[in-house]
Amino acid sequence: MSIIERQLFLRIFGPAHLEPAATQVTYTSREDIEVLLALSQTFRPKIVIEIGIQRGVTSKILLTQAPWIEKYVGIDITPDARPTLEGQYDEVPLKAGELVSSDPRVEVVVRPNGSRDLRVTDLPVADLMFIDGDHSETCVLHDTWLARQVVRAGGIICWHDYNNVTDVTKVIDDFNIREGDHICSVTGTWVCFEFRRDDGRAEGRA
Ligand SMILES: C[S@@+](CC[C@H](N)C(=O)[O-])C[C@H]1O[C@@H](n2cnc3c(N)ncnc32)[C@H](O)[C@@H]1O
Repeated sequence: MSIIERQLFLRIFGPAHLEPAATQVTYTSREDIEVLLALSQTFRPKIVIEIGIQRGVTSKILLTQAPWIEKYVGIDITPDARPTLEGQYDEVPLKAGELVSSDPRVEVVVRPNGSRDLRVTDLPVADLMFIDGDHSETCVLHDTWLARQVVRAGGIICWHDYNNVTDVTKVIDDFNIREGDHICSVTGTWVCFEFRRDDGRAEGRA
């Protein structure tokens, strides 16, 4: 596993700062959102996709601090649907993305099976994708596959819950063993990320 120490990461990509009150009620910690903010501030993504937008706590912070974001696609499941892992049952929002629904840059995509109901062509070519939906091994594998199709070369894929949820950690570790440690974890957070290499996969798409 490639690992970067959080303070070094923020020296390179930051500084990103969030008031503790901003993330009091959320699934994603202040430290984790600061990693996303630092990447956003440095690379200025125009098109962002979040798998598992939930009510929109993280997206609201990102959108507020990033006027350069032109489009933000948030994906989730319908309120009556169930994630694979029991520990995620109570995460399903009644109204996905409700905290950001008035922002004209936001498109919320809700499907019974969330990201698993989406084809590559349902999504725009993205500069940044944040994977934080169903944390089962099958779904993280699917979401990683999807992200690697839609994120442009040079864009960034971030995963949440590395070192927190066993399945997520296993998927990332397996990729790194197979591919040579391209995914990097940030210490003191549950975020890891990779820069998409230019293998032509997202080329030729609108
Ligand atoms: C931990 S919460 C996400 C928190 C959010 N990313 C944030 O930072 O505020 C996980 C979310 O993933 C959603 N989810 C579960 N299965 C999903 C799937 N297959 N596709 C998309 N979202 C899914 C849940 O409904 C829930 O809203």
